[in-house]
Amino acid sequence: MRLNSPQINLITKACMKASRSLIRDFGEIENLQVSTKSPGDFVSSADKRTEMIIIDELQKAHPEYGIITEEAGIINKSNTSNRWIIDPIDGTMNFLNGVPQFAISIGYEENNEVKCGVIFNPIMNEMFSAEKGNGAYLNNSRIRVSNKKKIKDALLVTGGPKQVSKIKDKIFNEYINVSNHVSNVRKFGSAALDIAYVACGRFDGYWQREINYWDIAAGLVILKEAGGLVNFFDEDKQAPLKRNILASNSNIHEELSNLIIKKNIE
Ligand code: IPD
Ligand code: CA
Ligand code: CA
Repeated sequence: MRLNSPQINLITKACMKASRSLIRDFGEIENLQVSTKSPGDFVSSADKRTEMIIIDELQKAHPEYGIITEEAGIINKSNTSNRWIIDPIDGTMNFLNGVPQFAISIGYEENNEVKCGVIFNPIMNEMFSAEKGNGAYLNNSRIRVSNKKKIKDALLVTGGPKQVSKIKDKIFNEYINVSNHVSNVRKFGSAALDIAYVACGRFDGYWQREINYWDIAAGLVILKEAGGLVNFFDEDKQAPLKRNILASNSNIHEELSNLIIKKNIE
């Protein structure tokens, strides 16, 4: 039987509540207000509405907790012991184009370690969730990473580069190099779902440069609880919310790391 902490119950509840409004917004995307944050990076009234519902719900229970959230920024900055990490819509570009590959992602951190997280695709009605020590789930079924043993047979997923990236060439070269060593590589447009799909064995691995912490925070605990391995590389100490991530089943992790981290193509 699953024993849930108050925090995972709370994020699940906030996620379900926000998803009702998100489903309505997805049904009438043509009526949403959309603005551009930077070239190729959009935010809609649905992102903001979803985020507001989540924050409201979480703050009702814990007004003192810190929050890192994509659109509203950092709330209660001094509280780094208990923190919610929110991406109200991960996969906004898909969402705005009517592609049902997007998710709400909420993680809960204690002293900089993600303790529990949920990633919910409301259109597919798929909720990925996990709590440290309690396993990972897709809806009510336990999930595990794939058992693929050889990198040459692996199906991977990645994302980026963003339009404004200064390392586009490096990212494209890396993509070519990895593609030459694996079965195939997908690009689905939602980092949170990418990592969740590795957790449930649909993909064997995921890597991406220049990702934001809120894209993958909830995914970290889900992947680990599903038996996967994750690490960050080429850290930039000046940008603590930016990450380069590599996540996979444990069999191919070293080979994948050798391809991406050790090779470090220019
Ligand atoms: C984006 C998605 C996408 C990834 C981008 C993210 P957003 O998040 O996760 O897959 O490639 O780097 O910014 O903007 O849709 O929340
Ligand atoms: Ca995101
Ligand atoms: Ca987002």
